[in-house]
Amino acid sequence: MSQHDRYRPQVHFTPPANWMNDPNGCLVHNGVYHLFYQYHPGSLQWGPMHWGHATSTDLLHWTHQPVALYPDPQLGMAFSGSAINDRENVSGLFDDEHGLLAFYTAHRDSPDGQDALQQQCLAVSYDQGQTWIPYEGNPVVPNPGVKDFRDPKVFFHTPSQHWVMVVVAGQQVHFYRSGNLRDWQFSGTFGKYQGHDSVVWECPDLLELSDEQGNRHWVLFVSGVTPADEPFPPMQYFVGHFDGHTFTETQPHSDVNRVDAGADFYAAQSFHGTVDHDGRSIWIAWANHWTYANDTPADSWRGLMSLPRELSLVTRHGQLCLRQQVVREFTARLTEAVRHVGSGRWMLPVPNNAQWFQLSIPATTRNTIQFVLNNIDGDRLCLQWQPELKTLTLDRTGIASSAFHERFNQPCQVDLSTAMTDEIGLEVCLIVDRCSAEVFALNGQVAMTCQLFPEQPFDRAELIADDNVFVDQAHLKD
Ligand code: FRU
Repeated sequence: MSQHDRYRPQVHFTPPANWMNDPNGCLVHNGVYHLFYQYHPGSLQWGPMHWGHATSTDLLHWTHQPVALYPDPQLGMAFSGSAINDRENVSGLFDDEHGLLAFYTAHRDSPDGQDALQQQCLAVSYDQGQTWIPYEGNPVVPNPGVKDFRDPKVFFHTPSQHWVMVVVAGQQVHFYRSGNLRDWQFSGTFGKYQGHDSVVWECPDLLELSDEQGNRHWVLFVSGVTPADEPFPPMQYFVGHFDGHTFTETQPHSDVNRVDAGADFYAAQSFHGTVDHDGRSIWIAWANHWTYANDTPADSWRGLMSLPRELSLVTRHGQLCLRQQVVREFTARLTEAVRHVGSGRWMLPVPNNAQWFQLSIPATTRNTIQFVLNNIDGDRLCLQWQPELKTLTLDRTGIASSAFHERFNQPCQVDLSTAMTDEIGLEVCLIVDRCSAEVFALNGQVAMTCQLFPEQPFDRAELIADDNVFVDQAHLKD
């Protein structure tokens, strides 16, 4: 491994070089998953946004493709958006029935901010997503007089037989409808002022997810830039009803419904077409945090995606809650697990490969449990369970490079007391792939995602726990 690639994960998507942020245009088409992403091909810093592009058949191994969208001299940068397959050629832009369309925000900057403008545009691909041509009639949704108006997510609403565009406008979500994917009519809003001038909603997604009985419910997701006094930015969700025009929340809640309790999970986007493909709802997120994203340790590339996750809902105390599970393509490629019982230390056989651990903690456990990964440099990642407080903590502050930013150098913690029932023990899954750690607890009801930059891969593990606690350990095959 070259020094330049010292943090490069085995299966988490990273750009070939330079800066990456949000996933864009996620879709499956003819059995191929397409992942586009916010990309600055000329720098390790955020800048003039392009859409980078990669393809995969297993959601784990990605092939880099040529840049898909470029900044436009008049309309501006290509900000985030989505892509769909215009199967029936309702747009009339194709000769056959296999046209792909991308919807994105054109962001025009101006030095004094006076002429800054965000509007929704369309690009067309005639060659299965390889190359993209901006539509002549852009913008398809002009700016309605809102400074922050961006990140269109487009999907087909079967009950009303219309295409829907979900887009953020300040601290609201706006809905548009279209029969031909080119002309869009405003149809409703969701959300009200959240009380923080600094909060701008970003990257909305709206999809129907199944609960454990197979009933489908609409869930609206937004990312939001953090007010300065909160520790990490929430991606949040709302459960409700979508009638094809607007979304209504049906499940009241006092706290924010957080998607991920970690520091680094943002702008997640679901893949268009997966439900028709194999019945799953799958999404992927930018595993990063705007506060320090431009400063993370990097040599030649910066930014990574989360592992793709399958989404569903579970009922907890009468409330529908989000469940995220790593796609089965990942678990299917794990080696046979080896079990370690009670306190002990051991070496990890293939430290460069993605590592999978599952801690099994009986309900009777009273003592604090620590599971620690470390390396020869003394970098230390600690996953801790405190049974009395019912808190699960992922602590990256023992990794020397974490000191690069005060906000990065903090543990992530989640309180499981309302989610857990006392009689049942706890299973916690930890996946570490070089510069990333993802924790899943309560069968995916809780997720916690963090970046990490240890100088060497972690090659040793230590469990500090009672004798009835064990860890199953496996790694991803090459
Ligand atoms: C979210 C975001 C989007 C925007 C893009 C710009 O991370 O701020 O709202 O379209 O990044 O790169």
